[in-house]
Amino acid sequence: MAPNPMKFVDGVARVKAERPALEFGTGVFEYAPAPEATDHVRLEPRYGLFVDGGFVAPKSERWFDTVNPATEEKLAEVADAGEADVDAAVKAARAAFRTWSKLAGAERGKYVYRIARLIQEKARELAIVETMDGGKPIKEARDVDVPLAAAHFFYHAGWADKLPWAFPGRSVAPLGVCGQIIPWNFPLLMAAWKLAPALAAGNTVVLKPAETTPLTAMKLAEILREAELPPGVVNIVTGAGETGAHLVNHPGVAKIAFTGSTEVGKLIQRALAGTEKRLTLELGGKAANIVFADAALDQAVEGIVNGIYFNQGHVCCAGSRLLVEESIEEDLLARLDWRIRQLRVGDPLDKNTDVGAINSRAQLEKIRELTRCGVEEGAHLHQPECALPARGFFFPPTYFTHVAQSHRIAREEIFGPVLAVMSFRTPDEAVEKANNLAYGLSAGVWTDKGAKIFAMTKRLRAGVVWANTFNKFDPTSPFGGYKESGFGREGGVHGLEAYVEVS
Ligand code: NAI
Ligand code: MG
Repeated sequence: MAPNPMKFVDGVARVKAERPALEFGTGVFEYAPAPEATDHVRLEPRYGLFVDGGFVAPKSERWFDTVNPATEEKLAEVADAGEADVDAAVKAARAAFRTWSKLAGAERGKYVYRIARLIQEKARELAIVETMDGGKPIKEARDVDVPLAAAHFFYHAGWADKLPWAFPGRSVAPLGVCGQIIPWNFPLLMAAWKLAPALAAGNTVVLKPAETTPLTAMKLAEILREAELPPGVVNIVTGAGETGAHLVNHPGVAKIAFTGSTEVGKLIQRALAGTEKRLTLELGGKAANIVFADAALDQAVEGIVNGIYFNQGHVCCAGSRLLVEESIEEDLLARLDWRIRQLRVGDPLDKNTDVGAINSRAQLEKIRELTRCGVEEGAHLHQPECALPARGFFFPPTYFTHVAQSHRIAREEIFGPVLAVMSFRTPDEAVEKANNLAYGLSAGVWTDKGAKIFAMTKRLRAGVVWANTFNKFDPTSPFGGYKESGFGREGGVHGLEAYVEVS
């Protein structure tokens, strides 16, 4: 193995590109700052719990701050729901279920359409709040999170009066109160993934947003009020893991839908074992993005970049393992190295920013720890020289070469902008390496040959496989995992099925 030419800077090893940069003129374009304005964004100093159609102070009398991870400034205070608060929310949802579940599908659909339209109407404000609270680039919040959130409500609104056609010849009934626990990487979008099918199918909901990103859920609560959704149909309880555990353990809940870490997913599965509660889990991933020698390499590079640096790599289906056919490894890495040096890292509110802030200090620590571990285990670290903002939580786009399959960076979900590069010689070897983990959420295949795509996708043990693209989402398409990436699907008719009793 070649000597590792790393130098340590700030506790993180850095190395200049080992290969000469491709000649594409002078490199990075200079952009003038293009900050999104925030002056029209209205945030309350304090948000209560959204229970039975209104904001209420928590019985727990506890509050916590939510901060902007790009500046470390406090944005607002949010209620920390205790057991009695969760109980009140579940009771409100149970009471509302009696009438909501009896409402004609077409009537329910009208409310869901109204929510979709209000999200579109307030798209700009929602995108800005999402970026301020969570650190993702404004161009992603604006072009991905918010439009997709609206699309999920539109899509499921259409099902509300067509449930008998979704499951032909069978009778369909809602489940009851659904407890939904969501993570911080796509706060509004995950709320939409969870709420839209539940409401369309006639269930009522208690939603628990993640503790670092509660604000778009509070904005959504305002939207639900504006849509005149009957009180109690959706209740939103903010808080951390303990609040989530109260919801999981509440006897009045018929179903739990969880998206988050595999560790917490296992805890929840254990807590629900032996109860009648239904459960769907959407957990971690460590997707293989497989590039064959016959692929369109520049497109593949865009897909690799999108796969791992989109949303700072805080993506369960991120293409965090690059498997590249050995004969093109050097060529592909030269192109990738050049491309990474063009990424603009910094202020998430700047419309030119490609990589924004890491969601929290804790997540930044986790990324640093695993990166250090990659270096210690002998992989070669590559990071572009880029100036990071002095305040806030930032990490440069990073990739590792000389990665062994046994390395932690090749096995564990880093959930940050860190790519592990490995190579293969035959399709069999690529399949073997791709499947050789406890995770199985997504995968990517890049090749010029359609037959090769089909041959590969059949053998990859992953819920979603993208061919010659990556990280594409659509409400009509089911999403979910194999193995420790979870069970159950979200989106499409498959996702709807998780919210109904079919008999
Ligand atoms: P987490 O799994 O603790 O948080 C996800 C949600 O679960 C949050 O709303 C949290 O408050 C809630 N929660 C935590 N403990 C709970 C419990 N005992 N019962 C019920 N709800 C509970 O994830 P965390 O700690 O924020 O991130 C740790 C790692 O998990 C990340 O570094 C990443 O690898 C992974 N992760 C994966 C996600 C995915 O979409 N697959 C999303 C978030 C994190
Ligand atoms: Mg925050």
